[in-house]
Amino acid sequence: MPEGFVTLTGAGPGDADLLTLGALKALQSAQALLYDALVSEDILALAPERCVKICVGKRGDRLSVSQDKTNALMVRLARKGLHVVRLKGGDPSVFGRVGEERDYLEAHGIAHKTLAGVTAASAAAAQFEVPLTHRGEARSVTYLTGRTKDGSVDLKDSVVCDPEMSLVFYMSSHNAAHIQARVQAVRGGATPVLIVENAGRRSARAVKGTLAQLADMVQTAAFDGPVLIGVGPVFARARVPFSALANQPDYTACDARLTAHG
Ligand SMILES: C[S@@+](CC[C@H](N)C(=O)[O-])C[C@H]1O[C@@H](n2cnc3c(N)ncnc32)[C@H](O)[C@@H]1O
Repeated sequence: MPEGFVTLTGAGPGDADLLTLGALKALQSAQALLYDALVSEDILALAPERCVKICVGKRGDRLSVSQDKTNALMVRLARKGLHVVRLKGGDPSVFGRVGEERDYLEAHGIAHKTLAGVTAASAAAAQFEVPLTHRGEARSVTYLTGRTKDGSVDLKDSVVCDPEMSLVFYMSSHNAAHIQARVQAVRGGATPVLIVENAGRRSARAVKGTLAQLADMVQTAAFDGPVLIGVGPVFARARVPFSALANQPDYTACDARLTAHG
């Protein structure tokens, strides 16, 4: 039996236009596809009809296939001689556990390669016209998570204290109040924030405000899709039709603008 092969790649955060050509080619030659919950239907439709498609993804605390089972499944399918595509949301190398999966494949002697994807922060930045770095406003950008194993928020001083560092929080809407308290104490309540749900999709919603409003903004918006929180001066530049500052976030208008821009 021929040796199987695993391609670890990312679908980008939303619509199919954010798929890389490399990921598209891998998808089109997939014989087995193990995909995350955030991968959209139009991207799944690009895999061959006869390809075995298995959802192994999870959304926050919702039930999912365990990491151990996903690892074992990749190996089992590859040992059948199949081209297995492990398709994650965004970029597999950003909060994607790709390191663990690669180590497992390596330990089991399965050939593999990793292809980059577009991370959610890049999609949100482009869609709402925010430069994540900008001369005089942001010399660096840090991707971090507000979700730790024990549920606490561990924000180091080096991250919180540099006012010219843009912060992009993944998996953090549940911890908005903690993030607000910790960062506001150092950077001040007037620091701009931008919250983006479903970045990179036509259904994207964004609301702009300040750190002092962050927890209220999250609560009011009652997000259902995946959410990013941006903190730092550059986020004041976001092109969002209505902002929390005006106390009138209007998501419908925001959606309309995105649609108008195609
Ligand atoms: C496990 S992480 C995976 C990140 C992914 N590897 C990436 O590069 O975008 C999942 C988190 O990414 C963020 N995320 C993923 N897709 C998103 C989207 N379309 N819009 C906003 N946030 C997104 C959310 O914070 C979500 O909780």
